[in-house]
Amino acid sequence: MIPLTFAAIGCGSRVSTYAKLICSLPQKSKIVACADPKPERLELMSKITGDSSMLTFPGADELLAQGKLADVMIIGTQDAFHAEPCIKAMELGYDVLMEKPIATNFPEVIRLEQEAKRLGRRVLICHVLRYTPFYGKIKSLLEAGTIGEITSINAIEGVGPFHQAHSYVRGHWSVSGKSSPMIIAKSCHDMDIISWLVDSKCEQVASFGSLSYFNSEHAPDGAPARCTDRCPVALDCPYDAHRYLTTERKWLKMVFKGGVDAPDAEVLEWLRTSPWGRCVYHCDNDAVDRQTVNMSFANNVTATFTMSAFDVGRSLEVRGTKGILSAGSVTKRITEHDIVVTDHFTGENTTYDLTPESGEYVGHGGGDQGLVEALHDEWAKPDSATMRSSIQRSVESHAMGFAAEQARVTKQVVSLDEFIEENRC
Ligand SMILES: NC(=O)c1ccc[n+]([C@@H]2O[C@H](COP(=O)([O-])OP(=O)(O)OC[C@H]3O[C@@H](n4cnc5c(N)ncnc54)[C@H](O)[C@@H]3O)[C@@H](O)[C@H]2O)c1
Repeated sequence: MIPLTFAAIGCGSRVSTYAKLICSLPQKSKIVACADPKPERLELMSKITGDSSMLTFPGADELLAQGKLADVMIIGTQDAFHAEPCIKAMELGYDVLMEKPIATNFPEVIRLEQEAKRLGRRVLICHVLRYTPFYGKIKSLLEAGTIGEITSINAIEGVGPFHQAHSYVRGHWSVSGKSSPMIIAKSCHDMDIISWLVDSKCEQVASFGSLSYFNSEHAPDGAPARCTDRCPVALDCPYDAHRYLTTERKWLKMVFKGGVDAPDAEVLEWLRTSPWGRCVYHCDNDAVDRQTVNMSFANNVTATFTMSAFDVGRSLEVRGTKGILSAGSVTKRITEHDIVVTDHFTGENTTYDLTPESGEYVGHGGGDQGLVEALHDEWAKPDSATMRSSIQRSVESHAMGFAAEQARVTKQVVSLDEFIEENRC
């Protein structure tokens, strides 16, 4: 087996996770070069690979100036800096492994798909949920006709209150104009899973939602702009930034140079000036904290999706002509099983439990690991469009997300065909 070789642009939280997984499969994959302006991120990559011959560069431009160094370029920069390095890499002859979202606006998503087609490049989007044992099992049960013909889907994503505050109130994705709308930034995975399970073209979307909690109206009396400015309600506030020193320390891994093991004094100093020290009711955020999307598909399946800051985990119900499949966090809470299939006519329940993922790759339900393990086989597929999360497939689910945002903002039902046509360059 000839290993696939990778170069990487943007070696933050996501790429360092992929790098560890890539290095755990030396017969299938190898990292040969990486770029990031932060020296500590390059140091971590060198530590992860343990390979002194791996080339490091202080930025995307410097890496791209070298010509083609590997089979696949990983794009792991922040949302607004995906399209530009992706196009340059494809022009140099790289295939691409691209973090989601593909781009921050839909015309750019279409442009990238068209460029990949014109240049004959493979682009795989990191829709990691498609590679989890959990959704893989659900997909195979549906394909086997376990619940008959699918009629409707109800999916919920609970972001979790502190996660919402960390990422979508204080953090990278809090201002949608600087990143992407919540339905894309967080829930493009859910749009993608719904599209995959329904396996048909989405025709129309409607959507409602708002930012209604994390705003100044909900600020407690006397709450200052920063938690570090002696907030009078700090002790009772679930979002008090001092929690980064105690119960919420795990989030530092993603945003603080010293990570989870940093001394308290350094973290405290950082909270005084960093976005993560701000009061959640006094930020510049506009990302919604609740949103619903209604969808109809060409095969007559209807679907609803709810994103809420105030729930934790994903839940799913798929209704079919023979039975109902319930899965995810609500099902687990009530039945202690991961997936339950109930037959309409016998009333019988069949339960499915997945072996819990272990180790540090438990994130995304094993999807990060599943994705990296699948890469070699995905790249061997004769038709790049049939890769499990190819750009061609991902454009469909990104269209659903961007159209849902338009539907939410304009309060109109959006036809997907018209939306795609209007956004074509
Ligand atoms: N697939 C998923 O489930 C998932 C989960 C979280 C985040 N993401 C997406 O992954 C992407 C990266 O997220 P992250 O949390 O790893 O971000 P991050 O901020 O930890 O990493 C981004 C890195 O890009 C680097 N960078 C900035 N400019 C650069 C340049 N010119 N050249 C090279 N590197 C540059 C930064 O220094 C940083 O290290 C985002 O688009 C995010 O939305 C995907």
